[in-house]
Formats: sequence, structure tokens, C-alpha cells
Amino acid sequence: PVLVVDFGAQYAQLIARRVREADVYSEIVPHSITAEEVRAKDPVGIVLSGGPSSVYAEGAPRLDPEILELGVPTFGICYGFQVMAAQLGGEVARTGNREYGSTAVTVGDAGSLLAGQPDAQTVWMSHGDAVAKAPEGFEVLASTVDTPVAAFEDRDRRMAGVQWHPEVRHSEHGQRVLESFLHDIAGIDRDWRTGNVIEEQVARIREQVGDSKVICGLSGGVDSAVAAALVHRAVGDQLTCIFVDHGLLRQDEREQVEQDYVASTGVRLVTVDAREQFLTALAGVTDPETKRKIIGREFIRAFEAAERDLAAEAAAEGEPIRWLVQGTLYPDVVESGGGAGTANIKSHHNVGGLPDDLQFELIEPLRALFKDEVRAIGRELGLPEVIVGRQPFPGPGLGIRIIGEVTEDRLDTLRRADAIARAELTAAGLDGEIWQCPVVLLADVRSVGVQGDGRTYGHPIVLRPVSSEDAMTADWTRLPYDVLARISNRITNEVEEVNRVVLDVTSKPPGTIEWE
Ligand code: XMP
Repeated sequence: PVLVVDFGAQYAQLIARRVREADVYSEIVPHSITAEEVRAKDPVGIVLSGGPSSVYAEGAPRLDPEILELGVPTFGICYGFQVMAAQLGGEVARTGNREYGSTAVTVGDAGSLLAGQPDAQTVWMSHGDAVAKAPEGFEVLASTVDTPVAAFEDRDRRMAGVQWHPEVRHSEHGQRVLESFLHDIAGIDRDWRTGNVIEEQVARIREQVGDSKVICGLSGGVDSAVAAALVHRAVGDQLTCIFVDHGLLRQDEREQVEQDYVASTGVRLVTVDAREQFLTALAGVTDPETKRKIIGREFIRAFEAAERDLAAEAAAEGEPIRWLVQGTLYPDVVESGGGAGTANIKSHHNVGGLPDDLQFELIEPLRALFKDEVRAIGRELGLPEVIVGRQPFPGPGLGIRIIGEVTEDRLDTLRRADAIARAELTAAGLDGEIWQCPVVLLADVRSVGVQGDGRTYGHPIVLRPVSSEDAMTADWTRLPYDVLARISNRITNEVEEVNRVVLDVTSKPPGTIEWE
């Protein structure tokens, strides 16, 4: 793999994704990794990420100096660039000038890293200190007004670095810079393909599972759908999927799972109709955290009831259920401290996920993958686009998008408004621009309106379109006015209870993506 050394900013995951977009497998490791541990992983390259520290600050993260002596091609980004400079005998100065945001760089001698690229580029910077002198053997490739050494490389040692963040989309040619390092300087082949993942995983799962039975909870979302399809390809009808319809789903979602998904994969599916159970448990509840807890609890109850039935059936057939499939992704693994490849990795559970004490062993075929890779695999497995292309949808579903008590009527109102918003966004070709667009019903708010000749007193609907890379931060998406107008007209015309549509123009932070 290429090891992405995490110096503590949020950028390591993004870098790891960009490396994979260059068709090279990547793994995130902590900066405390030793040269010995690096050698054991036998990396073809190392990328040092950015980080929030100053290399001079007390306790600032450094790299085991021997790592830079291993002969592994290494690329430094931002803080990682300064760490390289400082540890290889260059100089890092406290300039006192902060460069933050879009910055112009001037390319001098382009070297291999910036070869064929424009002499002037706009890139994304975020730093206080700056490299004042490149280490011996390094050529300086670019500069900015405030930073004399903004990029360098040492062809012989196959090392390079940039002060800016090539992994963010705001940096022009950023991906090209990364690819120049990976392919031209480090000479790494493009051999990371999602097709290979399918073959490898199918073989692995077959061996792991043998003849025993497997269950999987389907949420209707991408991750569990792809995980189950992979396992099904490996072990066929030894797998049974359980789908809990908690009544908090969006329009047509149950049918998409029961019909489209089953038709394209052939999985055995058990649907639990728990709509009444959830509505009863949620009656009278308005507090968001209480709602989430109730939904989580009822979900587990419904799932376990179905699971017990299946277990009894399996036991009668003499092959007990031993395995549980989970759609855990790499970001979940990294966030629960597993990025280091250490033991004792916690499984990530969403609200609406499953308890830890189920008596099964876990199969997590997606735990090395990012979301976009999971989608690609889903498409290769022939899953329907309505599922593979689906936006993130929270486990507690529409239950946390009704501000106020959840009732059947309110769910019905929100479902219709949400379906209109989604259909219009798709029709306008905007699905690629937005990360997700929660549609929220302010059920306890009423406002006065006028329609036809009459006064109305209805509820507002909030549109919350956001753009994001990972949901940790987000900005509100500047949707075209005509699309907003169409959504608003249709919702107020077609959904009787709604007489006003408003737009949420809050970034995250301070707002979260969901309203509850
Ligand atoms: P927030 O509202 O925290 O949401 O900005 C960040 C992302 O997480 C999704 N989300 C959830 N997903 N179970 C989930 O599976 C949950 O309980 C949950 N709450 C929020 C949200 O849709 C957004 O993508």
C-alpha cells in the first residue's frame, strides 16, 4: 500500500481517497508509527499529511527519523512538507504570515512533480510556518509571495512535497500533483481496481463462512445493500437479509428493496413490518435525543425478533447462524481508532444499528473501502441505481426530520414533500452537486398563507441542500433559483398541509446537516 501518515488534521482520509482515485491502494497510519512497523507493511510509497501543529511547538508530532531512511518514496503535504524539511536538514521559519485559503503559486523549475503544468496556479493553503530552505539535494519547484519554498523534490531519493493541499478540490491540478508523485516519481503502478476487490472478497468470505448460515440487516442504504450483495455472491442462500420497515422510510424505499434489490441480487429477504410498533413507541415524544433512543431500541427489538425466528429455523436444519454481515466502511474503522491496523477495533454502530452483544461473528467486506468505491462495487454487482446512487439517509429516518411529534399523517406529508424535492433535484441533474438534501417538516409551526380565495394555516417545509466531502463539515448548496422555485411550487400545490417552503442557508458548523 501507500501509507498516509496522519498528522492529526482532517485531511488524511481525503488524501487516502485521492490516492485510490489514482488507482493505488492506500491505508491511513498514525504519525507515531515506527520505522519497524512501516517496514512490516512493505509500502510502495508514503504520504505525510497536513496537521494543525507548528513543527516548533512543544510536543509537535514528528516522524520516526528512520522512516525517511528506508528508501521508500515519500511525499509531504503542508505540515508533512515542513516535517520533511525540518527532519532532512532544511529550515522551517516562523514567518508570522499566515496564508489561508486560495493562494497563487508560481512554478519555477517544474521538476517531475509539476512537469507539464501551468506556471501560475491557484491552490489551497493553510499554514503559518514556512519552509525557508530546502534540505540538501532538493530542488525548489515553486513559490508564493510569502513562501519562497512552496514545493520541492529530490529525484534521486524519490522524495517531494508541497506546502499547499493538493487533495482539496480548491487546488487546481491537485490530483495531477499527487499522480505525478505516485506514478512518475515513485513509479507505482495503477493496480487498485474495485473489480479485484469483488473477487478477493468473494473468495475470502467463502472460505471464512464454510457451510454455516449468515444474516444481514438491510437498511435500504448503500453500504448494507452492497455488503449483502457481495456476501450473497459468495455464499448464495446461506445468507438471509432482514429488512425492518420502521415506517420512517421515504417514498418507495421499501419497494425498492423488496422488488428492485431482490430482483437484481436474488437475496433471500425477510421484511419485518414494524410500522405500528414504532408509531406507538414514538407517540407523544418531541425531544430529539429521546426519539433517537426510542428508534434505536425498537429497531433492535424488531431485528432480534426476526433473527430469533431465523435462528430457530436454521437450528432445525442443523446449520446454525454464525455470521452477521455489517456494512462498515473504512472511515468508520479509522474513526474508531482502527486506522493503525491495531487489534481490538470497535465496530461502528449508527443509531438504528445493532447491539454489540449479538452472538455472531462479523463479516465486514467493505471495511477497507471508501463510499465512492462501495458505490462502484455495487454498480459492478448490478445493483439498481436507486439504491447505489442513494444519498446518505440517517438510521432514524424521517423520525428526526419531523420537528415535533411523529405521527402517521405527518410522515405522509413529509414523504410527499421529500419525494417532490428529490425528483426535481434529480430531473435538474443536480444529484452530483449535492451531498444530500434533507427535507424537514416543521410540524409544530404554522403560518398564514393564501391560496385560491382562501386563507390557509399550514406548515413550513425546510429544504436543507448541502455540499460536503465527508459530512464532517458542509456548506449549503447554491441551488439554481429556478429549481428551488419548481420545488416550492410543486410542494405547496401538491401537498395540501404545506403552505410555505423555506431554504436553510447555514453551513456546518455551526448547523448540523440534520435538524435533530
Ligand atoms: P449531522 O446532522 O450530524 O449529520 O450533521 C451528519 C451525517 O450523518 C447522518 N446522520 C446519521 N446517520 N444514523 C445514521 O446512520 C444517525 O443517527 C444519523 N444522524 C445523522 C446525516 O444524514 C448526515 O449525512
